[in-house]
Amino acid sequence: MKQPVWRGGVFLAALVPLLVWLYQAQTFALGPDPGKTLVDRLGQGALVLLLLTLCLSPLQWTTRWSGFALVRRQLGLWTFAYASLHVAGYLVFILGLEFARLPEELAERPYILVGALAWLGLLALALTSNRASMRRLGKGWKRLHRLVYPILVLVLLHMLWVVRADLTLWSLYAALGASLLALRAVRSIARRRACSPAAPRRG
Ligand code: HEM
Repeated sequence: MKQPVWRGGVFLAALVPLLVWLYQAQTFALGPDPGKTLVDRLGQGALVLLLLTLCLSPLQWTTRWSGFALVRRQLGLWTFAYASLHVAGYLVFILGLEFARLPEELAERPYILVGALAWLGLLALALTSNRASMRRLGKGWKRLHRLVYPILVLVLLHMLWVVRADLTLWSLYAALGASLLALRAVRSIARRRACSPAAPRRG
């Protein structure tokens, strides 16, 4: 597939849910509490995009198709965009922009702190996702971008806190997240073994 077509397809696939939800909000099709529904959908969208972004490397290792790497940054930035809209939705529809209520809110919903930490992590990754930052940070860039795994754990914890009553969907996300973490760990152990000098023979 041609590069611009592939990239454009991924761009559209990420944009369409936002347009659909916007249309549903306009036509009062988001249920009795549209603000909360929108916040939930944006949060789920951000998590799905995060998991998809993390699937790209294993897909590339197994298929050797470079197209997966081509859209990694784009999907990472979409993850950040959805997460930021989720946070903005929370501030507008749930907090009602009454910032004085934040301390009370944090005491009532401590999972917000976990979400905030995850969002700050995503912000750091989005700000350093460009070539100039890659050059400036050198080897530190890879180390910084491995933060994506602790961020995923934070987001899963944040969601777990919210959906405790029904863990069906959460279990699915957590299982995929755990598999991706295990794959990454196995690969880095295998690579370290391959790079270390052969162990001296006995006898
Ligand atoms: C400052 C940062 C954040 C705040 C204030 C925040 C706030 C919230 C709130 C209030 C809810 C529950 C809404 C409800 O009552 O149903 C929620 C749920 C959720 N959030 Fe966040 N969040 C933050 C960061 C994030 C990030 C970074 C992600 C993902 C990348 C995320 C993903 C989710 C998910 C998946 C849910 C569950 C949605 C559902 O019930 O279906 N959140 N968040």
